[in-house]
Amino acid sequence: MAAFVDGRDDFEARENVAGGLGPIFNRDSCVACHNGPATGGSSPIFVTRFGLLENGVFDPLDDFGGSLRQERAIRPNAVEVVPPEANVVARRQSTPLFGLGLMEAIPDEAILRNVKATPVNGIKGKAAIITDVTTGQQRVGRFGWKAQQATVLAFSGDAYVNEMGITNRFFPTENAPNGNLALLAQLDNVADPEDTADANGKTDIDKVADFMRLLGPPPPLALSPSAALGRNVFNQVSCNQCHTPVMMTGPNAIPALASKAVNLYSDLLLHDMGSLGDGIVQSAATGSEIKTPPLWGLRASPPYLHDGRAPNVDAAIRAHDGEAKGSRDQYVGLNATQRQQLLDFLQTL
Ligand code: HEC
Ligand code: HEC
Repeated sequence: MAAFVDGRDDFEARENVAGGLGPIFNRDSCVACHNGPATGGSSPIFVTRFGLLENGVFDPLDDFGGSLRQERAIRPNAVEVVPPEANVVARRQSTPLFGLGLMEAIPDEAILRNVKATPVNGIKGKAAIITDVTTGQQRVGRFGWKAQQATVLAFSGDAYVNEMGITNRFFPTENAPNGNLALLAQLDNVADPEDTADANGKTDIDKVADFMRLLGPPPPLALSPSAALGRNVFNQVSCNQCHTPVMMTGPNAIPALASKAVNLYSDLLLHDMGSLGDGIVQSAATGSEIKTPPLWGLRASPPYLHDGRAPNVDAAIRAHDGEAKGSRDQYVGLNATQRQQLLDFLQTL
C-alpha cells in the first residue's frame, strides 16, 4: 500500500521545467490523460503519430521528430507540427491502466499459445516479439495499441520521456523539436537523466510503475438476464476468438498477482484489422495491425477504438475489419434482441 500511494503521488504530480519537463511534451502529468473515472483511468485526450509511406515502406520520420508529435513546449517556437513530409497521420486514444500488473504477470508462453496455427473464421493473431528495454530480453509485447512494450516499467520510462519530456535511465535522450538539435540544445538546460533516485534509491519511473502494477482491475457488474444471454452471443459470433475472456498469471513476487485468473477479454495479440489499421508501423506491428484491447471496464472508457472514432460500443464493433470481418458481419446479422443482449453483456465487464 505504501508503494502504491507513493507511486500515485508521482503519477498525479505536475512536473515543472526545473524538474526536467520538456523542452517538448504533451502534458505535465500522467493523470492529465489517465483520469477517468479515477486516477489511472483513460481520457478522451489523444496523441498524434505521423510518418511517410513511400513505395510500401514506412518511414517514422525520426529526423523530423516522428513518429510521435509533442504538442506542447516550454517555448512557443519549439511546439512540434506534423511536418509536410508526412503522408500518414493517426490519432491514438489514451487507454485505461487498471489491472496492468495482472496483464504483466501473464507469461509470454500463454500469449504465444493464443496464436492460431490455422485461422478460425479468418482469425489468426500474431505475438508482438520485442526487446524489453529494462532487461534487453526478447519478450512478448502487450501494452499500448501496438503491443509495443512488454513491461510496466518500460512503458513508464517511455511515457516519462515521450509524454512529459523527462529523460530517465532507460530513455536518456531528449526528443528534439521536429528534429531540430540546435533548438533542443538552446532549451534543454537540465542534465540527463532528469529522473533521479530518491533517498531509497527509487526514481519516479520506478514508483509510478509500482502504482500502475498494483492498480486493481475494473470490477465486473452482476449479469442481468439479458446480459447473461449476451455472453452466449459473444461466443457465438466469435468475439471470444480475439477478446479471450480469461487468461492466467504465472508465478509472481507479489502474491496478489500470482496464479490469478485475469478477466481481461483480450488475447494480447496483434491482428490485421484491414481498413481499421492506422498505417503506423511501430515495434512488431505493421500499419494495419492493432493489439486486441482488453474489454474489462469498457463501460467507463468511451470513446472507443485506437483513434476514438467510435462514440459507442455498437459503432466500435461495426468498424471491425480485416481478421475481424467475419465476426463483425455476424454481429451485424444478429436480430435486435440478440444485439442488445450482447451490448448489455459488454456493459458489465
Ligand atoms: C498526452 C496524454 C498522455 C499522457 C500525459 C500520458 N499518457 Fe499514457 N497513454 C496515452 C496514450 C494516447 C496511450 C496509448 C498509446 C499508444 O499505444 O500509442 C497511453 C498508454 C499508456 C500505457 C499503456 C497501457 C496499456 O495497457 O496499453 C501506459 C502504461 C501509460 N500510458 C502510462 C503513462 C504514464 C506512466 C504517464 C506519465 C509519465 C502517461 N502515461 C502519460 C496518453 C498519455
Ligand atoms: C480478429 C480479432 C477480433 C475479433 C474477432 C473481434 N475483435 Fe473487437 N477488437 C479487436 C481489435 C484489434 C480492436 C482494436 C481496434 C482499433 O482500436 O482500431 C478491437 C476493439 C474492440 C472494441 C473497442 C475497445 C476499446 O477500448 O476501444 C470493442 C467494444 C470490441 N472490439 C468488441 C468486439 C466484439 C463485441 C466482437 C464480436 C462481435 C469483437 N470485438 C470481435 C479485435 C477483434
